[in-house]
Amino acid sequence: MNIAPIPQLITSVPGPQAQATVRRSEEAVTPSLPRAYPLAVKRARGVEVEDVDGNRYLDCAAGIAVCSTGHCHPRVVRAIQEQASRLIHICGADFYDPMYIELAERLGKLAPGNTPKKVFLGNSGAEAVEAALKLARYHTGRSHILAFLGAFHGRTMGAVSLTASSVKYQRGFRPLVPGITHVPYAYCYRCYYHLTYPRCELACLRAIEEVWFVRAIAPEEVAAIFVEPVQGEGGYVVPPPGWLSGLRALCDRYGILLVADEVQSGMGRTGKMWAIEHWGVEPDILCVGKALASGMPVSAMIARAEIMNWPAGAHGSTFGGNPVCCAAAQATLDVIEEEGLLDNANRIGQRIMTGLRDLAQESRLIGDVRGLGLMIGVELVQDKESKRPATQAADLVVKECFKRGLLLLPCGPNSVRFSPPLILTESQADLAVEIFADALAEVESAAL
Ligand SMILES: Cc1ncc(COP(=O)(O)O)c(C=O)c1O
Repeated sequence: MNIAPIPQLITSVPGPQAQATVRRSEEAVTPSLPRAYPLAVKRARGVEVEDVDGNRYLDCAAGIAVCSTGHCHPRVVRAIQEQASRLIHICGADFYDPMYIELAERLGKLAPGNTPKKVFLGNSGAEAVEAALKLARYHTGRSHILAFLGAFHGRTMGAVSLTASSVKYQRGFRPLVPGITHVPYAYCYRCYYHLTYPRCELACLRAIEEVWFVRAIAPEEVAAIFVEPVQGEGGYVVPPPGWLSGLRALCDRYGILLVADEVQSGMGRTGKMWAIEHWGVEPDILCVGKALASGMPVSAMIARAEIMNWPAGAHGSTFGGNPVCCAAAQATLDVIEEEGLLDNANRIGQRIMTGLRDLAQESRLIGDVRGLGLMIGVELVQDKESKRPATQAADLVVKECFKRGLLLLPCGPNSVRFSPPLILTESQADLAVEIFADALAEVESAAL
């Protein structure tokens, strides 16, 4: 694919081909899919996406934090092609597929901590979360689960029951899986208790033990606490120092399993392989998905070996750990390790954060810029004093970015997320911030 200079101001979006694609989609495809803007894609390479009308975009969404090695990385493509010509499917649940076993071994070693691990491979993030939910109940013999306000764990029945990032995910689907309680996350910019870190002394963490475990839920009935080390869909929220280690200690006090959902934050996105490593915490169960195989559908539920004590037949999947996906995952891990993508995520992430924080000085809409590595959120507010959420602004800004050749996605009620491929260069990062600034200025001036 010919890399042309991007962006160009694309006045014609959606172009005629994209419009036709949107119409066909409206006829044939479930209306439940939450399209951010009318991007209809023909092909993509690296950080560049080309739509069906030939418009080119700089991709800072990466298919929701999936294409970390960039689109169609040659090593990933080669691994897929070679594996597809050898074996496409055998069912790693019923037979012994060396590709499944090798990926399990590698992920088990990569997971935080030195304890031996065992791995279940699924097809999606939600499936890894479902597996963790079942295993936590099975292993502990307890039924109750704690999760967090703002959490997103997926859309299947168990995963959506753990989710509390927006009522739209649950409306109309009740009753959900019983025995799940949501408690406030450490969302310092918009503290649920209206306190300020560090003077709060982690009140949100203490409240779990001092309030919930005293008044509402017996801790010895709690199987697991599900946590995103950095909240994703809920708004790219980074907890403060001490919170995750405090959560680990709380779990240890009551024999509760700590489940880290790193479906979005894992695989190097935050500049470490797993976000939870920023706080030196080892979870009991780790859920991985999205970027694991650069866009091929595979996920993993990685648990300490002693926890994964369920018997044959208790859990499995026809396609989970399909050999082609496993080959893509191995190539993805090779690329991350050998092409220095963690360092790049740190370096480029810092650059984008600095650019956005500079922009925040001038912008009246930017309330907060936060993130780790290349998982960066910009929260938009009506004004900086009241911090009232600018609920439509995030959608408007990403649409304006789209028109200018930059792909971004919103997250939470009023934030924009930057989750580009981890191969983004300095000049591409600068360009992304520049376009974002331009789009923001447009939305700000329209709002005046
Ligand atoms: C943290 C987290 N968990 C789980 C999921 C669900 O993954 P999937 O859409 O692959 O089922 C997502 C998806 O956005 C996620 O961000």
